[in-house]
Amino acid sequence: MQLLDGKKISEDIKNEITAEVQKMKDNNEKVPHLAAIIVGNDGASLTYVGSKVKACEKVGFESTLVKMPSTTSETELLKKIKELNQDDNIDGFIVQLPLPEQIDTQKVLMAVDPSKDVDGFHPENFGRMALDMTTFIPATPFGILELLERYGVETQGKHTVVIGRSHIVGRPMSILMGRKGFPGNSTVTLTHSYTKNIAQITTQADIIITALGVPNYLKAEMVKDGAVVIDVGITRVADESEKGYRITGDVDFDLVSKKASFITPVPGGVGPMTIAMLLKNTLLAREQRKERNL
Ligand code: GUN
Repeated sequence: MQLLDGKKISEDIKNEITAEVQKMKDNNEKVPHLAAIIVGNDGASLTYVGSKVKACEKVGFESTLVKMPSTTSETELLKKIKELNQDDNIDGFIVQLPLPEQIDTQKVLMAVDPSKDVDGFHPENFGRMALDMTTFIPATPFGILELLERYGVETQGKHTVVIGRSHIVGRPMSILMGRKGFPGNSTVTLTHSYTKNIAQITTQADIIITALGVPNYLKAEMVKDGAVVIDVGITRVADESEKGYRITGDVDFDLVSKKASFITPVPGGVGPMTIAMLLKNTLLAREQRKERNL
């Protein structure tokens, strides 16, 4: 069994990005500038956004954090998005999800200028992804592709089973693994809450990507010998530690890792890759804007 070490690979990527930023600085060019909007006080969301801003600083990007109260109306949020769309200093921005219930998420995501949509959540960018066009691939799926690529995990002709059809992970992952090229050329099965006999399907899988958010859901009996297992779960489970919780994945790691050929740990697998790929998308956004003399 080999660990797919997202912590290490994400550090490699951040170092590569830092070198690119240094070149921009040496040439007196603008450096990438990422903005993040967060609405409300959800602890996990605040932590994630904080990590994104910190990562920007680490690689030499500019960053702006826009904090809005949980009572923010949809109109107020749309106005802020319009401001960021029009702000030439901002190369890319994200609206941290989930949003409070008075706000229509789809309407918000559609208001983001696709050329600044570094999360890749705008329908235009999602469509471009499905059509193999240049786009911003959502950070978590992009991170998984990058792990598969850097570890040389064979995907061609393999049966990939994706568990969960969320717009952020499962759905895009199912599209990306079936695209032409590497990583891709996989035969994909997308499973979800209405799938019958899921273990019968997962035991046929060469690659399992689970993005469910149910701790220890994927048991050893559900995995065939030699399978590649990618765990996207990041559920906070209460414990006795100082923080009061630990992060738990969807995979029963101790037993599944004995059967897997490659496996991502939680924490330290897919999680750190997500932030690195958001930075990569922001660098791409800056390069595209430079081409347009912006
Ligand atoms: N909430 C959970 N994951 C994400 C993400 O990748 N981007 C944003 N904006 N919000 C999220």
